[in-house]
Amino acid sequence: MRESRLRVGVLGAGAWARSAHIPGWQRDPRCAVVAIGDVAPDRARDCAAHFAIPEATADWQALVARPDLDVIDIVTPSHTHLALATTALEAGKHVLCEKPVAYDFRETRRLAALARERGLKTKLGFTFRYSPGVQYAKSLIDEGFVGRPFIFNGYEQNSQWLDPQNPLRQVDPDADQATLQTSSLEGYGAPIIDIGHWWVGADYARVVGTMRNFIPERMVRATGRMMRMNIDDGDIFLGEYTNGAIGSIQTSFVTIGNYPGIEARLYGERGAIICRLVEEFGVAETVRLATPDGVEFKEVAIPPRFYPPGGHPRESWRSLFYANLIADFAGEILDGGERNAGGFADGARVQETINAVERSFHERRWVDLPLDGEAPGRGAAR
Ligand SMILES: NC(=O)c1ccc[n+]([C@@H]2O[C@H](COP(=O)([O-])OP(=O)(O)OC[C@H]3O[C@@H](n4cnc5c(N)ncnc54)[C@H](O)[C@@H]3O)[C@@H](O)[C@H]2O)c1
Repeated sequence: MRESRLRVGVLGAGAWARSAHIPGWQRDPRCAVVAIGDVAPDRARDCAAHFAIPEATADWQALVARPDLDVIDIVTPSHTHLALATTALEAGKHVLCEKPVAYDFRETRRLAALARERGLKTKLGFTFRYSPGVQYAKSLIDEGFVGRPFIFNGYEQNSQWLDPQNPLRQVDPDADQATLQTSSLEGYGAPIIDIGHWWVGADYARVVGTMRNFIPERMVRATGRMMRMNIDDGDIFLGEYTNGAIGSIQTSFVTIGNYPGIEARLYGERGAIICRLVEEFGVAETVRLATPDGVEFKEVAIPPRFYPPGGHPRESWRSLFYANLIADFAGEILDGGERNAGGFADGARVQETINAVERSFHERRWVDLPLDGEAPGRGAAR
């Protein structure tokens, strides 16, 4: 008899699969990782041995085609996500995919529709949506703590690449260095844009933004040499949400501070929430609340129900947050209902915002959303 657990195949045996994805699946008794695929066969084999995964392969297509798998988990470099996710959905698998699914939001939306038609669930790697603190804050918002939302401020920033000698993967090796390429806004903007949509309860109606290249030359991971890299290593945008709230988002990987570097603030008619996910002195996150009668922000304890089994505030945020993400996805698949939070449909809305901010910067103007009806943006060209 076929076992009742969800059978998962993971694509990509790199750093993030090892520190977040595979530990998340293996922590959930409803799931079993049965195969790991990596185009680098040694990496697949090492990973299989380390995590006691029964099968390792270098052939990702054969892995995706296996009829005995329920879920494909894509933890490969960004430029491969679209092809892998498309193949997995076409093969009838539920898909967890690291962000972005595609550089152009229309592709992500197309895959969201494909999944819906086939009754499949999708999930984006929006890690920070699943932090116990962000989940607790959302439950307070749902209970009416904030009331009508006025202003959302979001940050995702740290100093991971302040040192130009720290090797970075090129966004596009063939890019014209005269034009700034999107980097931080996509890599770091996506999760905090997602939290903003989710907490405010609305999409953006229009945005205006700017991007900067602060560190002109960097060490390139593929070549081990320094070269000009005209990429966005810091950016800011303003937005108006469709429900009347307004917001700002700032992302950077050259701003001094620790991981994950998220701060989400929501100010409303009845209350305000500041959720800070910056690992400091062993604590990964804090939630602080204020009300009209108590304007001094007070830190509140995050209730235990928002932690995964065995989780605690001093656990590494990588495994802690991902355990919640995977438990949520497994629940959505096994329950079989309509619920699919943080999936490709949400990812498409986030990517559309990113594409709109790119356009705003390159054309130096406010850009209205949805982008439909406008010519494809730069995101579509890559
Ligand atoms: N959500 C988050 O907070 C977060 C954090 C870190 C990384 N990430 C994302 O996770 C992904 C992986 O990052 P990483 O740091 O582990 O990278 P990595 O380079 O360490 O690992 C990626 C692995 O994928 C393999 N690979 C490439 N093409 C493949 C294919 N077609 N099939 C199977 N394997 C293939 C590579 O050989 C490599 O081993 C990236 O998209 C990254 O942006 C997300």
